[in-house]
Amino acid sequence: MEREFREDLNDRSLEVASALHSAFGAPDEPKWPIVLVDSAKYQTLTDQESLSRAAGPAGRNFDLVEVGLFRKQCAQCHGITGDGLGPTAALLDPYPRDFRRGTFKFKNTAYGTRPSIEDLIQTITHGVPGTSMPAMANLKRSKHYADDIPVLARYVRFLAIRGEVERELMMDTIRDLHSDEILFDIRQKDSAPEAFKKNQQTIDQVIARVADRWLAPAGVQSNEQSDELFESQYNAFIKRNQFAENDLRLDSTAMSADLFQASLRRGRGLFEGSIAACAQCHGEDGTGNAKWKDYDEWTKDWTIRAGIDPTVKAEWKPLKKLGLLKPVVASPRNLTLQAYRGTATDIDSGQGDSGKAEVDLADSHVRSSRLSILRAVLNGLEGSPMPAAALAATTTGGLTDDQIMDLVRFVESLAVPKSFSVAEAILVSSPNGESVTSQKAGHGS
Ligand code: HEC
Ligand code: HEC
Repeated sequence: MEREFREDLNDRSLEVASALHSAFGAPDEPKWPIVLVDSAKYQTLTDQESLSRAAGPAGRNFDLVEVGLFRKQCAQCHGITGDGLGPTAALLDPYPRDFRRGTFKFKNTAYGTRPSIEDLIQTITHGVPGTSMPAMANLKRSKHYADDIPVLARYVRFLAIRGEVERELMMDTIRDLHSDEILFDIRQKDSAPEAFKKNQQTIDQVIARVADRWLAPAGVQSNEQSDELFESQYNAFIKRNQFAENDLRLDSTAMSADLFQASLRRGRGLFEGSIAACAQCHGEDGTGNAKWKDYDEWTKDWTIRAGIDPTVKAEWKPLKKLGLLKPVVASPRNLTLQAYRGTATDIDSGQGDSGKAEVDLADSHVRSSRLSILRAVLNGLEGSPMPAAALAATTTGGLTDDQIMDLVRFVESLAVPKSFSVAEAILVSSPNGESVTSQKAGHGS
């Protein structure tokens, strides 16, 4: 911000830090800002009990309930304040998430909106496969720790809200205050109560504005207007096509071999074509080796947007001293590995407690992969360069639902999972896609 506004912002950042401390407490003693406690509508967002259990040093309460969960399980990567700058962060690729933008990649809610609590629970439960983000699923299976995951999810939300407020207070202060005006000084409480009260109102407005954004996705079920506003392309697609989460209609077994192969061919055309333009980033073979380079939003924030070229070391190096991490290119996923990071469905949902037969993990993994591809295409991965598809339902010239299905089948076939026949695998990997259709072999593994 100093670079952008050509101003020394040291004093401002100290004022913002005290305002934050006053509203949100300290890492050892977090508190839910009073303005949010006072209004019933924010009570679903988090609660003081979750904050107290998640924050502070790891240990046990007098009643033996475990506390300090975040510092024990998460802070080494995500940092105590959720800035993504924990002690191990610099060694990891991708870097741990900085929660302070409020931007999350893996969610069912619409692009540009905040994740629901279920989305965060899903991420914490299953981790982000293929990255260092661990799965906490074992906590869920334990009687004593079952509640830890929702507690952590509510704490992540708290840290994100706190971080967003920090950014926006800084922006508002630079924009709205004269150089001789002060945003926050606790001493003014006695010396200048009127000014203090006025400033407190400004701060409360920012806090409420940020919290409102987090409220919306959770309110989806209750409010018809927000339903439309926050409905994601993924959820709308599932509804429109009457998909149940466990629907296997994407599978080759649900259609004849000829139809399936025709669908794969159309999918390849779309993958390489100009509307979906997947190959532009993922490469024609899907390995992600296209000559394409871009950075994620977290990196662009302090490089490109601040006028710093992330490819020129001399430009970004001075900012490393402030704790920023070396800019790393956001690589498009290698789609031939069948390793998707987003888990669009609960892999073992509905199993376990019921005492029913063990879930077929291979099968639920395939199903989950399919939905993950579908969701990535429809919703994009916010914060990364991966865009949400333009749909015919909302944009002229966008993709139809059938074309989306063709694409998902094709992307899945790039990874050649076990449920595909050998001939289908050859079909997909042969350059013209036509030659082997007549040699359809039986389903092998
Ligand atoms: C060993 C390092 C590590 C630990 C420990 C860790 N994370 Fe992460 N976490 C990551 C990385 C790396 C990512 C980024 C993954 C990506 O961008 O694909 C991430 C991403 C996330 C995300 C964002 C997902 C999204 O949709 O963008 C959340 C939420 C999260 N972690 C929560 C937690 C919580 C809560 C804990 C503690 C229970 C935790 N993490 C522990 C490394 C870690
Ligand atoms: C502008 C570049 C770009 C375009 C265009 C693009 N992608 Fe991506 N895609 C990415 C990047 C980058 C990632 C990795 C994002 C991350 O995890 O940070 C990605 C990730 C994915 C994933 C992995 C999702 C997961 O959960 O791991 C899938 C599947 C995918 N893309 C499919 C597609 C398809 C299909 C298209 C065309 C409709 C497409 N992509 C278009 C850049 C792109």
